[in-house]
Amino acid sequence: MANSFFEKINYSACNEDSESERKALRLTTEDTILCITGSGARSLDLLIDSPKKIISVDFNITQNYLLAIKIAAYKSLNYTDFKSFIGLENCSSRQEIYKKVEILLSLEAKTYWDKNFDLIEKGILYCGTWELILRTMAKLAFFRRKEIKNLMESHTVAIQQDYWTKHWDNAIWRFFLKIISNRFLWTKIVREPGALLIPKEFDIYEYMRSRMYYMANNHLLRTNHFANLLFYGEYKPDCLLPIHLREENFEIIKNQVDKIEIITDSLLNVLDNQKLVGSVNAYSLSDFSSYADAEMYNEIWGKIVKNTTNEIKFCERFFLVKREPEKLSNLIERNNVLEKQLYDEDLSAIYTFCVGRIKVTV
Ligand SMILES: C[S@@+](CC[C@H](N)C(=O)[O-])C[C@H]1O[C@@H](n2cnc3c(N)ncnc32)[C@H](O)[C@@H]1O
Repeated sequence: MANSFFEKINYSACNEDSESERKALRLTTEDTILCITGSGARSLDLLIDSPKKIISVDFNITQNYLLAIKIAAYKSLNYTDFKSFIGLENCSSRQEIYKKVEILLSLEAKTYWDKNFDLIEKGILYCGTWELILRTMAKLAFFRRKEIKNLMESHTVAIQQDYWTKHWDNAIWRFFLKIISNRFLWTKIVREPGALLIPKEFDIYEYMRSRMYYMANNHLLRTNHFANLLFYGEYKPDCLLPIHLREENFEIIKNQVDKIEIITDSLLNVLDNQKLVGSVNAYSLSDFSSYADAEMYNEIWGKIVKNTTNEIKFCERFFLVKREPEKLSNLIERNNVLEKQLYDEDLSAIYTFCVGRIKVTV
């Protein structure tokens, strides 16, 4: 999908809950996973289960530069400097810390980051298009600061539910949802190419409204990292951070970042490279359907099935573009029970799941 949108970093923090991929894929030390890079969060999170290897693919080279600098930061820093450098904490010495990080970057990645040093200065964690939109919205919502505080500081889901029903879910909230569900905003103003792929009959507003209602009635927002991004535009101190950003996981991730191989190419091409994907037995595909028309989507799944020599496990997310890959091949077996469980449990709440295995023919 040629578009200037894919020449900048669009995702930088984490807008998914990788616990779902962990439950779906149940990775072991024997597994080699092909993972979409995006913010790099999922590729890093999945290291927690010590797989053999992660092949992290994105056709947007800047997303891969972001993962590369996060990896270099793990390798060169301790946790205190790491969290300051990436932007989890305020910091006035990122230039100083970058001197330790840059020596581990490839020439191309270093050239990119030298040229875009302003992103490092502000903290790379929140530099994506999506994160910038959320931060701007959080600032514009200054007149609802008291309500946001009450909602986000609820100590139990029951208190939160009550607050949502009595004070939050009002005309202002619905108006806001109408704005962010507006196709014109995404196609013409944000120029998000994926917006053109959302079926015309899909009611974005109703979907978002019901999923936000579900989230507020089932997951404690105070500790939920996705809700922190949505309502504050950043991770606050009470937030349970994404797996790879937690202090207790820092050394585990740091010791394994070399297991990640980064590839800049489209899934379509990568899946043709038998030498590379021959060893893959798990796919973590995030929501690539958001950027693939039906033809490309089917071609990608066709190649995944064709490549299958050993049993494959997969976990794909769907945001606003829902697909049915199992209709392409009877070797694709979806686990609807687990999909429903993940739909209910995933902290980000906005995704449905496509989880299962590809059988091998004997
Ligand atoms: C939809 S985004 C999801 C981001 C994810 N939620 C996160 O927080 O990291 C997926 C990423 O996949 C990349 N992508 C989409 N389709 C792709 C394809 N066919 N081949 C390679 N990368 C693709 C995009 O550039 C984007 O960075």
